[in-house]
Amino acid sequence: MNKKYFRMDVMLEPLINKWYAWPHLVSPSTYSMNVKNHHIPLMESFVESPELHASAVRNPAMAGGPFVDMRQLDTELARTYLDKTKKQCQEQIQFAQAVQELTNLLKLKADGSSLEALYSEMPELLKGYTEIFYDLNNNPGFRFIEPLIYDTSLYNECLQEIVLAPISQDERPFVLSTPRLLTSQQEVRLTIPFSTPALDALFVAREEPTNPEKFIELLGIPNDSRETFLSFFTETPPNGTQPLPAGEARIRYFGHACLLIELGSEVILVDPVISYQYYNAIERYSFPDLPKKIDYVLITHNHQDHILFETLLQIRHKIGTIVVPKNSGGTLQDPSLKLMFEAVGFSNILELDEFGRIALENGEIVGLPFLGEHADLSIRSKLAFHVKSCGKSILLAADSCNLEPKLYERIRNRIGPVDTLFLGMECDGAPLTWLYGPLLTSPITRSNDRSRRLAGSNYEQGKSMVDILGMQWDRSRGSIMSCPSNTPKKATLLRHQTPYFTIATSLVFTLSVCLSREKSNCNGSTIGPQS
Ligand SMILES: [Fe+2]
Repeated sequence: MNKKYFRMDVMLEPLINKWYAWPHLVSPSTYSMNVKNHHIPLMESFVESPELHASAVRNPAMAGGPFVDMRQLDTELARTYLDKTKKQCQEQIQFAQAVQELTNLLKLKADGSSLEALYSEMPELLKGYTEIFYDLNNNPGFRFIEPLIYDTSLYNECLQEIVLAPISQDERPFVLSTPRLLTSQQEVRLTIPFSTPALDALFVAREEPTNPEKFIELLGIPNDSRETFLSFFTETPPNGTQPLPAGEARIRYFGHACLLIELGSEVILVDPVISYQYYNAIERYSFPDLPKKIDYVLITHNHQDHILFETLLQIRHKIGTIVVPKNSGGTLQDPSLKLMFEAVGFSNILELDEFGRIALENGEIVGLPFLGEHADLSIRSKLAFHVKSCGKSILLAADSCNLEPKLYERIRNRIGPVDTLFLGMECDGAPLTWLYGPLLTSPITRSNDRSRRLAGSNYEQGKSMVDILGMQWDRSRGSIMSCPSNTPKKATLLRHQTPYFTIATSLVFTLSVCLSREKSNCNGSTIGPQS
């Protein structure tokens, strides 16, 4: 058989027990809480009142809410799935119950006196990987020794599944509230762990032609899916943009918070979210526009729109080192990103802390504090990054909320002038429970929930950051922009539309800021596809 390429318009959807895989579904403690407190109640609610869900799904004001998309699902299928989940995830459900019991125990008996006697009263399931403690105000708490939890069957690779299917449009049902229960003739479903090495070989075949037949055995393609699977290959080579000439610098914007930064011989990719290649009115970079090797992938924080396994699994083979922020060590709300990435098959994971440094050939990457956007929860796995190399000084602030401008004065004193700032802007943000609700062990009032948002910087906060960093800005609007290389000492607010990202956020509109300090420092940079 002729050697062929894996097509650029075939998507990979990673599923865990039929739900779109996002970080809290990989970490076993947060997964358990999500099964018991989100997946099961949501499906029970749907089975009970399908019409309520259907009408909510039809209402755009409810987008992103906890409503099962009826267009995807019938109640009988949902009922069967629900029963199966209750059996298959029994251990996870018991774990989540045990977490609640431990919380109740601590509320009742941790009165400021020694906690030693409570270890024997701890739920059996939590013994051996749970530590209980007080903070300095005598409030009790607990943490998990996470690597030991990954050793148990709470982390169950058998629940992982890969869906391969052609894709030709941006729209997909909102993935966080609807499991993928229906299958189609056009897709191939593989019940394999995300860590399966043959997946890397499959995505290498996007650039290097190979014999597609070899994957039938390597990936265990079911007999009735073989013809469909073989149709995912083509003799047409990929048509990406030209690689950057050696020694030059360039920044390319791939959508949402994803940036490709090429500085001399080093390549850095930030928060990878990459669209597939198919005809669309909105021009965009895609997989063939990536270089063969990515030296560093920088992950800014543990939100589902910044850690997209769908993209990451497809580029795993290209990544030299994946840099993740260090977590606080075992709290439920702040699972380890290092352990999570290891579990799904990534190697060379580097945990970085605030002001931790990675040496580059001609510069460095430094982790910087990232305040806010996490509903005032004690979460440490979040970092902004400063990339300094080849005469460029780039600040990647992701969704940092400028809660305290003095922080940026201190940062500027440390890192010096910044040429280019990337800042995701979100004035409002979802309430705490939208993301962290399944992890809560005590109820929160509606008003407190609404006051604690996943909000990034608004205009005033972004402007203050710009001023402190010594930039000026002007504004331009549009979906595709050029970096302001002809606007010396001006910075530019970029507004872009990323409808293909509705799969992860339900949001069709996001804001980003590219702020450039000096004309000379922005030369050679491009943002958005070049025509
Ligand atoms: Fe975020």
